[in-house]
Amino acid sequence: MMQMLKFTKPVALGFGLMALSACQQPPVEKLANKIDMTYVELGQDIAKANCAACHSIEPSGPSPRADAPPLRTVFGISNPESLADDFREHIHVGHADMPDYDFTVKETDGLLAYLSSIQTSN
Ligand code: HEC
Repeated sequence: MMQMLKFTKPVALGFGLMALSACQQPPVEKLANKIDMTYVELGQDIAKANCAACHSIEPSGPSPRADAPPLRTVFGISNPESLADDFREHIHVGHADMPDYDFTVKETDGLLAYLSSIQTSN
């Protein structure tokens, strides 16, 4: 009796988490995508901290700043290769209001990985 009581809570929590992750997990991923996920997550953190004040970093919705394109559209504006080079080499990206960033190579790769993961045509 005591044991059953003890288990009730964690089991309920376990089911809750399973239900939650079932909704949030994207469909089957390739191994390569899984490896990239660390970069994508790093990039998402960087984007949240550095870009989200002006740009939408979400899959839909407007940017907080109307003149800043949602980041899911920027590969249509700038070629990803030259963007990566610009961030790596600390060249000013965007326009005068955008701060100059001093990202490491890994951070730049993460940011670009995140950007590619969210690109859409609109
Ligand atoms: C202070 C506001 C602000 C922040 C913070 C900001 N941006 Fe921007 N960004 C803008 C605005 C405004 C534009 C539009 C520039 C234009 O059209 O002239 C822009 C344009 C861009 C472009 C379009 C490409 C280009 O060359 O015009 C890219 C890519 C971009 N931002 C990436 C980023 C990334 C990545 C971050 C975070 C690391 C970031 N921005 C942070 C305001 C900001």
